[in-house]
Parts: sequence; C-alpha cells; structure tokens
Amino acid sequence: MDVANRLRGLRAMVTGGASGIGAAIVRRLAEEGAHVVIFDRNETAAREVAEACGPDVRVAVLDLADFEALDSLIAQTGPFDIAVNNAGIDQHAFFTDTTEADWRRLLLINLEAAFAVTRAVLPAMQKGRFGRIVNIGSEAGRMGSRGGAVYAAAKGGLIAFTKSIALENARYGITANSILPGPIDTPLLREAINGGGEKLLKAMEGATLLRRLGTAEDVAAAVAFVASREAGYVTGETLGVSGGMGIAQA
Ligand SMILES: NC(=O)c1ccc[n+]([C@@H]2O[C@H](COP(=O)([O-])OP(=O)(O)OC[C@H]3O[C@@H](n4cnc5c(N)ncnc54)[C@H](O)[C@@H]3O)[C@@H](O)[C@H]2O)c1
Repeated sequence: MDVANRLRGLRAMVTGGASGIGAAIVRRLAEEGAHVVIFDRNETAAREVAEACGPDVRVAVLDLADFEALDSLIAQTGPFDIAVNNAGIDQHAFFTDTTEADWRRLLLINLEAAFAVTRAVLPAMQKGRFGRIVNIGSEAGRMGSRGGAVYAAAKGGLIAFTKSIALENARYGITANSILPGPIDTPLLREAINGGGEKLLKAMEGATLLRRLGTAEDVAAAVAFVASREAGYVTGETLGVSGGMGIAQA
C-alpha cells in the first residue's frame, strides 16, 4: 500500500472536533487527504477549525444529546468510511458528591452518543464493506479515577462497546478500536484541574512514565493510523496514548 494514500479520499466524521484532541484529529485526517465533517455544539470554534483546514472540512452543529438531530445530520452529510467518537465531558468530584443528573449527562455524552453515532453510520459501512470506528476512551476507563467514577465507568463501557462492535462487524471489513489518552493538555484537562493548579499538573505528569503531559497531536497520530486503510488487520484493540501511564509505578 502507498502509505501517502492511506487516508486519501476517505469520508470521516469526528464528534467534538471543534476543540482539543478532536480538532487535532480533524487537522490530521484532513492533512492526509480525508474529507471530514466536524460534529460539535460549538459552532464558532468548529468553523475556525474547518476554515483553517480548507474546503475538505465541513461543520454539523448539534448537541450530541439530541439523537434525532444526530441521525438527520448524519443522513445529510454522510455516508462515512470513518467515525471518530471523540466528544466527551468530565466532572471532577468524589462519587458521593455527584447526583443522578450528573451520572445521566456523563453517560449520555461519553457513552450513549457513541452508540447513536455507531448505529447511524454502520449500515452504509456494512453495505460498502469498509469502515473504521475509532472511539476515544481514557486510561481512566481501565484504571479507574479518583474523582471521576462515573466518567471512568462510561469510558470503561466504551472500551467493551468497541470490542463488541469489532466482533459483530469484522465480516463486513469494518474495524473498531479504542484510543485511550492519558493526561493531554487541552481545555478539558485545564478545566478538570481548575482549582488544583500547578500541583495537580505536576502530579499528572508524574503519573506518566515519560513525565510530561501529552499533546492533542500525540493522540491524533494514533487515530490516523487506526482510521487508515493501512490498519485493516487491527481491530478490537485498546491503545493507550498516555506516556506509559498504564505501567508507570509510583
Ligand atoms: N484531555 C485529556 O487529558 C483527556 C484524557 C483522557 C481522555 N480524554 C478524552 O478525549 C476526548 C476529547 O477531549 P478534549 O480534552 O479534547 O476535550 P475538549 O473539552 O477540549 O473538547 C471536547 C469537544 O467536545 C464538544 N462537545 C462536548 N459535549 C458536546 C455535546 N453534548 N454535543 C456536541 N459537542 C460536544 C465540545 O464542544 C468540544 O469541542 C474526550 O472524550 C475526553 O474524555 C481527554
């Protein structure tokens, strides 16, 4: 395979593509010649990302909690060869300080929205006998999280969902993989440590083997690989992009 063409001409959608990791994924896929649609509620930021990339990047504005709007926007802008479920929200609080409303919102955006996207994109992928589902989980999904129990549960669920989609769709030439970021320097991380400041940042760096925060581009590079034609023999995998956090020792 010509590596330069591993993504050329493929049609991709990226949820949460207006900021942080999602924006880096959009830029990377577009740089490699994919046509990309950003699905995000932040129209201004999404348009800025799209304009900087050029005409191959378009924007669909929605709240991912609205599955009807999601279905209709996917029907209008699809079909897609690649779906990246990246949008996520976090809440830093001990479990006993969270409410049922908090749980519902965290599960809805971090887990159920990925169900809804996958349901909407799979029929065309199955028909075309090609597809790449890429789910952005978190190391919290396999390690747990002090101050993020429901977030970690949602991300753990996403890992199991990804494997199940891989099992059910291999016969159609569709792969599904999870990418698990560690501490990545994005607006979401800065918001999560709000109040903890420099001390918390240092603790996060110290939790990695490489002793640094990751960049959104670190994550985008891994996504570009599993989303590519080249990765046709990689499915059901769970790849940490976390500076070795999974094996780091205190
Ligand atoms: N930053 C980290 O350290 C880190 C670590 C582990 C996992 N992750 C995961 O990576 C993904 C991206 O995180 P990020 O740090 O880039 O976050 P971010 O906050 O910078 O960006 C998230 C994007 O999702 C969009 N979004 C959120 N809720 C939405 C909704 N209801 N409808 C439509 N759009 C919505 C936001 O508008 C934003 O553009 C998330 O799934 C997050 O859980 C991030």
